[in-house]
Amino acid sequence: YGDHRDLHLSLRRQRQMCIRDRVCMKALILSGGHGTRLRPLTYSQQKQLIPVANKPILFYAIEDVIEAGVKEIGIIVGPNKEQVIETVGSKDWNAKIEFIYQGEPKGLAHAILVAEEFLGNDKFVMYLGDNILKNGIVEHMEKFKALSPNSPNSLILLTEVENPQQFGVAELDKNGRVKRLVEKPRIPPSNYALVGIYFFEPVIIEACKNIKPSWRNELEITDAIQWLIENGYRVEASIVKGWWKDTGKPEDILEANRLVLDEVNHNVKGEIANSEVRGRVVINEDTIIRNSIVKGPCIIGEETTIENSYIGPYTSVGRGCRILSSEIEDSIVMDYAEIVNAGRIVDSLIGRNVKIMKSDSLPKSRRFVIGDTSQVWL
Ligand code: G1P
Repeated sequence: YGDHRDLHLSLRRQRQMCIRDRVCMKALILSGGHGTRLRPLTYSQQKQLIPVANKPILFYAIEDVIEAGVKEIGIIVGPNKEQVIETVGSKDWNAKIEFIYQGEPKGLAHAILVAEEFLGNDKFVMYLGDNILKNGIVEHMEKFKALSPNSPNSLILLTEVENPQQFGVAELDKNGRVKRLVEKPRIPPSNYALVGIYFFEPVIIEACKNIKPSWRNELEITDAIQWLIENGYRVEASIVKGWWKDTGKPEDILEANRLVLDEVNHNVKGEIANSEVRGRVVINEDTIIRNSIVKGPCIIGEETTIENSYIGPYTSVGRGCRILSSEIEDSIVMDYAEIVNAGRIVDSLIGRNVKIMKSDSLPKSRRFVIGDTSQVWL
């Protein structure tokens, strides 16, 4: 009898697990938009492809959804779609990835409507491709996938911020239930900002069809979730522990870079000659460090040369760079940049193929060839 009962219990457990696993989750990752606040970098590069600790920001989102068990990912692409497709395609991912062209970006809820066919009748997680989250989304995914009647129609992620006016903001009741959401309110009802990661049942598509464009002429996802609340659907919140960064502006990218570098593991390859390498440092293959000081946390890509220089904490240097007789700290130097005799550089974002050098010819002066909207501090 005992054996029989054990068998029965284990069959029941198996069935429950099947039901859980049958909750087929897709992911919709957004990688469109013009990135106007990150110009000039975004004239030639899609903002979600800007590297943080030498990895495109977008890859952090893809890794998070795959880690949470998603097997089908739709990536919304916009103006620089070829770039995104090529960069994502350069890696093997343990998931099926489809690209969906948004055309003119008309808001986050618009992105869902564009993806209607891809989403079908499945639950999904929507992840803004410019968001980075320390702890990933596994814990929140579990909460959303809880068996009925515990599963909500939508789960939003919240975190306390000092500047809620710049985000979507949630008002919670005494029990922590979501009462109301507002997009970038002048007078915020709380400090809880909406993190750019949302879990939805397919009813969100109906919500997106029923809302009107906001003052910034966008179909706001915040308004679509508010529609769910007003129409009696259950919207719950999960509080994000650990840091979260929306990388909309240059200073956000540098901060994300600091946060990610704070967790790198020491791993030095390449050739180190007559140099001091201190702290947690990643140095990739075929890189040469000569007569220099490198202080972690920092990362240096492959095929880069660093000579007679100081690379300070919180610096990411891409591949194929040359840094000679210069000092750089708390900065991102993208692929193939050259910095020669440039003095001390801090808090900087230096794009691909950029050259910064000291001029030796007369007249002794500063010379620039700088694209539109570049920023220089002397
Ligand atoms: C968007 C959302 C906002 C959310 C933010 C998170 O803002 O509209 O509710 O808090 O992402 O990154 P946007 O980046 O479009 O200004």
